[in-house]
Amino acid sequence: MTTQETLELYNQCITPNYKRLPIVIVRAEGSQMWDADGKRYLDLFPGWGCSLLGYCHPRVVEAIRQQAGKLIHVDNTFHTEEQARLAQILHQKGFGGLCYFSNSGAEANEAAIKLARRYTPSSKYKIITMERSFHGRTYAAMTATAQSKVHHGHEPLVPGFVYVPFNDIDAVRKAIGPETAAVMLEPIQGEGGVNVADNDYLHALRELCDQNGCLLIFDEVQTGCGRTGKWFGYQHTGVTPDIVTLAKALGNGAPIGATMASQEVGASLTVGSHASTYGANPLCVAAAIATFETIEQENLLERVEQMSAYIFEKARALQSRFGFIEQVRGRGLMIGIELSLPGAPIATAALERGLRINVTQDTVVRLLPAMTITTEEVDEAFEILNGAFQAAESKLVTS
Ligand SMILES: Cc1ncc(COP(=O)(O)O)c(C=O)c1O
Repeated sequence: MTTQETLELYNQCITPNYKRLPIVIVRAEGSQMWDADGKRYLDLFPGWGCSLLGYCHPRVVEAIRQQAGKLIHVDNTFHTEEQARLAQILHQKGFGGLCYFSNSGAEANEAAIKLARRYTPSSKYKIITMERSFHGRTYAAMTATAQSKVHHGHEPLVPGFVYVPFNDIDAVRKAIGPETAAVMLEPIQGEGGVNVADNDYLHALRELCDQNGCLLIFDEVQTGCGRTGKWFGYQHTGVTPDIVTLAKALGNGAPIGATMASQEVGASLTVGSHASTYGANPLCVAAAIATFETIEQENLLERVEQMSAYIFEKARALQSRFGFIEQVRGRGLMIGIELSLPGAPIATAALERGLRINVTQDTVVRLLPAMTITTEEVDEAFEILNGAFQAAESKLVTS
């Protein structure tokens, strides 16, 4: 099929809900992918953060191959050794407790919200979330997402959600009360523009939640599984939440989500209270186990620190060259470059030159590179970025 033929079939047969590039990807490996016309792209945003080990990591591929020949799917009427092993990994790397498995970030958050309302007394139902958050597209996760562009056309939303500004403890202090079941946030907002929560703020949130008998939920769908240089983003902060949600990098491209809860909170998800037919599908679980084992055995958390320092240095060098770069921020391999001009033309210019980046909130270039990216690939990527920024600058000068 030619690229044109594929695009035409999309137009005829697929809902138009994604702003897709007119590119058909046929193969990907590490931090590189190739389209149907043989063009190669370097990718600083592989799989929207899912491919943390890079595309088609050999150990993940092998784990999936082996599992596919053994047991692709069995329902949750039964137990599997794979599910037990993955839960043990999360239990040991996280804060102990219990794990519920699903298939995506939205579902992991949906479960967290249900869990918070189940665990707390019935008078408690309100969930406080943050402006510029992103928690997914199912109804409760979408309602938790405090961005009106995500709600548009889907009203009425789920009742009980209260929005406050991010990193503003006084706002939470005013909003929290006897009806609050949980405060939910990303320790680093991804979609919202790579906004890092202050440590003091997180400590104060923990205290407020304890004082008010409500739960603290961290959505670590983007920050989790090693992205920030620790297994989970909260481990940088000294604050332990009651619930952590994971997806994206958990299966390194295989769709799996997890809701990790403290022992007491998790125990309230009793028989029949929640379920997912595909949750902890053995194929995806095998991918997730391989992902965690690879990160551990190949010391990739240390590599995150090294590559992060290298990338931040490169990004700051760009900042000293281009006056329209206002700030470089983030943690580990979650990097935001805030511009004073729209980022979309820069993403387009980069793509034309063979580099894929992401722009969020119109002006923030967001990079979620793979742990396995090489310094040569980073050098090449930043050379292309430099060219794309130069193109933007020359447009500024001529306009
Ligand atoms: C922080 C966060 N939570 C939840 C989600 C939703 O995950 P999914 O698209 O797998 O439902 C995303 C997706 O970008 C996310 O970044």
